[in-house]
Amino acid sequence: DGELKTWAGSLNPVLSPVFVKEGAGYTQKVIGSTPLLTTRESLEALDAAVKAYDLGHGYWPTRSVTERIEHVERFLAAMRQRRDEVVKLLMWEIGKTLKDSEKEFDRTCDYIVDTIKAYKDLDRNSAKLVEEQGFMAQIRRVPLGVSLCMGPYNYPLNETFTTLIPALIMGNTVIFKPAKYGVLLIRPLLEAFRDNFPKGVINIIYGRGRETVGALMESGKLDVFAFIGTNKGANDLKRLHPKPHRLKAILGLDAKNPAIVLPDADLDIAVSECITGSLSFNGQRCTALKILFIHKSLLEKFLEKFQAEVKKLKPGMPWESGVSLTPLPEPGKVEYLQALVEDARQHGAQVTNENGGESLHAFFYPAVVCPVNDKMRLYYEEQFGPVIPIVPFETDDEPIQYVVNSNFGQQVSIFGTESKRIAKYIDAFVNQVGRINVNAQSQRGPDTFPFNGRKDSAEGTLSIADALRVFSIRTLVATKSTDKNKQ
Ligand code: G3H
Repeated sequence: DGELKTWAGSLNPVLSPVFVKEGAGYTQKVIGSTPLLTTRESLEALDAAVKAYDLGHGYWPTRSVTERIEHVERFLAAMRQRRDEVVKLLMWEIGKTLKDSEKEFDRTCDYIVDTIKAYKDLDRNSAKLVEEQGFMAQIRRVPLGVSLCMGPYNYPLNETFTTLIPALIMGNTVIFKPAKYGVLLIRPLLEAFRDNFPKGVINIIYGRGRETVGALMESGKLDVFAFIGTNKGANDLKRLHPKPHRLKAILGLDAKNPAIVLPDADLDIAVSECITGSLSFNGQRCTALKILFIHKSLLEKFLEKFQAEVKKLKPGMPWESGVSLTPLPEPGKVEYLQALVEDARQHGAQVTNENGGESLHAFFYPAVVCPVNDKMRLYYEEQFGPVIPIVPFETDDEPIQYVVNSNFGQQVSIFGTESKRIAKYIDAFVNQVGRINVNAQSQRGPDTFPFNGRKDSAEGTLSIADALRVFSIRTLVATKSTDKNKQ
């Protein structure tokens, strides 16, 4: 009801993946708790969003562009004041390094600024009148309705805001369910939301998916489902909506992005891009390189350099300087990665780097696994962690067939210098994936670039201008001229 109250219902403890030294050993700490909403409470949030969207009440969608932007700008100013708290929680909740946590916060602020700019352009364009075959037409860009926005734990601030902000700016009202890990960091922003948006425009819910989000879906009152996470999570929820054709899905899902290193590749570039591509934030990025196809002619040299670079990566606590390998926030992740490596071993692969696959508490030391083939789980499954499968190949057809036959189609990276051969790969992939990178790792940025994917990897395009388009629809007002000479 617009008040930040002390929660009287049940609470869900939040555990940090960071183990703290206590006496002779290390313990895992509960660093906070979140409310566990009941179905009734979750539906109350939905009602508030429906009411705020209701066109009859002169609410959010009918506010002028200038007014909506003012709200967002005020929110941004309040958010900037909470940088330190949010950054600290990013480190404690998801184990992101200090440098990357600061980067995530600043990138999110920049994203808001750029989205406002893009909105002003979009609005100017849609206000134009077009005269055509006796019609005076105006195409108005209008919001879609009540949007549920859910983001992933690896970018709990940035990726949730890449749907939340364009949804709000376009005039949609929002129900926002923070990521399961990376949920406490929303707390410092609650007052900023409450104080800077009209009641009901943004509603934050917490709790178990089935009781909360499941109930929202079943109500049939949601117009947009913006979800960045796993295919399973998206499908389980989507199918609960009674009229799926009335629900617009905007999805960023699983990926298994390959790198293909050709015989004529610049090895230093390929190694350095593959290191950051596969191991930034311990490989926990949907855009990470998740399988490396290395031409047999340079396999030995590649492995030698790649392993030397892995060795330079420093494990430690997120706030320690120079650290890049940090604890993994997902419970059970270490065991899952161990099982993938063991499966590969049983099918004839080896962990080729020193200490590869060793673990302690929530830490997992990167494992370079070679040679990986199609008998192994690592060939297909999205590991979302620090395990790097290496597939040696001889003919161009092998990596091309991998991409063509994959269920996923987010990105691919090609490393090489022979332009004809690269062009052949680009032609083979242009209808298979959302982005082809040449001599560069896979990634989302720059944020002005379209971000999407094919097959099971995505639905709808995000980025700054694209996201504004995806959260809106163009309605045509076509006035026929009554001037007989013009008809
Ligand atoms: O987890 C998926 C994110 O979209 C990755 O974004 O490539 O900027 O790290 P990024």
